[in-house]
Amino acid sequence: MDSKCGCAKDRRKFFMRGWDLLKLVAGLTLLYPLLQFIRFHVPKAPRYVKVEKTLLAGEVHLDPDFVLFVGQEKVWAVSRICTHLGCRLHFSQEENLLICPCHQSKFTPQGKRIAGPAQKDLAPYGVEALGDDGKGYVVVI
Ligand code: FES
Repeated sequence: MDSKCGCAKDRRKFFMRGWDLLKLVAGLTLLYPLLQFIRFHVPKAPRYVKVEKTLLAGEVHLDPDFVLFVGQEKVWAVSRICTHLGCRLHFSQEENLLICPCHQSKFTPQGKRIAGPAQKDLAPYGVEALGDDGKGYVVVI
């Protein structure tokens, strides 16, 4: 009689463990789409910033978010935010470098990192001429 009773208890334990396992799998299955949703990254919409002034070759325009350079043959812009910890870069005309005031990382006007704790280059931004009269630029951030 005792052995029959023990067998029923073992069977009950087995089915309870199976039921717990099934609940765990069902929970994870329902949780997966939620985790996917939380991880979902909405791409940032581009921002268009007008620089409504004429710059001559060699001139630089400092915006809070970018630095616009006008060369002999082309115009380009790079991010003004340091890739180390996000400080705003200054442009040194004498050294022709973008320098971070926080930890002294240095970048070329093209955005290439050359010194300091920053590990990445600056993000390049697109630049378009503003209208046909050529007085200004649009920087796409
Ligand atoms: S934030 Fe620019 S070097 Fe640290």
